[in-house]
Amino acid sequence: MDTSCFIRPATEADTEALFDICLKTAKGGEDAGALYSDPHLPGYIWSVPYLKFAGDFAFVLVEDDRPVGYVVGVADTSGFDKDLEANWWPFVRRQTAGLTPSRPRDADVMERIQNPRSGTTWLQDEYPAHLHINILPGLQAGGWGRRMISTELQALRKHGVKAVHLGVDPNNERAKGFYRHLGFSQFERDGSVAFAMRIDGEAG
Ligand SMILES: CC(C)(COP(=O)(O)OP(=O)(O)OC[C@H]1O[C@@H](n2cnc3c(N)ncnc32)[C@H](O)[C@@H]1OP(=O)(O)O)[C@@H](O)C(=O)NCCC(=O)NCCS
Repeated sequence: MDTSCFIRPATEADTEALFDICLKTAKGGEDAGALYSDPHLPGYIWSVPYLKFAGDFAFVLVEDDRPVGYVVGVADTSGFDKDLEANWWPFVRRQTAGLTPSRPRDADVMERIQNPRSGTTWLQDEYPAHLHINILPGLQAGGWGRRMISTELQALRKHGVKAVHLGVDPNNERAKGFYRHLGFSQFERDGSVAFAMRIDGEAG
């Protein structure tokens, strides 16, 4: 483990870093820079709204004053979705209005921005919180993922959350192994993979 790194709560000043880390890990954990014509596209969905609308559950891993990873989450997934519908997607639609899809992943993300996907109902009912974690390649496999998940689960638990879920790219074998190792249970959902865990028992 690199001891010059530490985890701290994220702030508004970390917004660009959250866009960047999301882009650099969005291809099943690898750099997706070539797949999007606007480098903000994946972060509009998977990182930045969490900082803006669920800031109490957003943390960054920092090395030499620079964020090199983040974990973000929400306590109540359906409440968060409603909040984004009212206060985030209209802004993102304006930001991306002039974009013509030309790179491989543009169209998918543009479609998600126009028609945000709601999660799987039973999963959200049983495991209302959800999270995302992304660490830049140089800092992966050093024990920081475990620590960041633990930081996130502590914050959620403190808020009274009893269970959490997350989605994983089915091709991201490494992440799937990581979540299994940390004690999450795996579920299939409409061609994708979800993991979930109760957090009101032992520490995560
Ligand atoms: C997935 C990710 C968050 C894991 O974090 P990490 O820092 O690489 O993982 P850690 O080093 O903290 O590993 C924690 C534990 O999980 C184990 N582990 C990690 N990957 C594993 C795997 N594929 N299979 C089995 N165990 C695994 C480690 O051996 C370690 O075990 P220990 O603590 O008992 O010794 C990180 O690699 C990452 O950000 N990857 C790119 C983005 C990504 O894929 N995000 C997830 C999207 S859903």
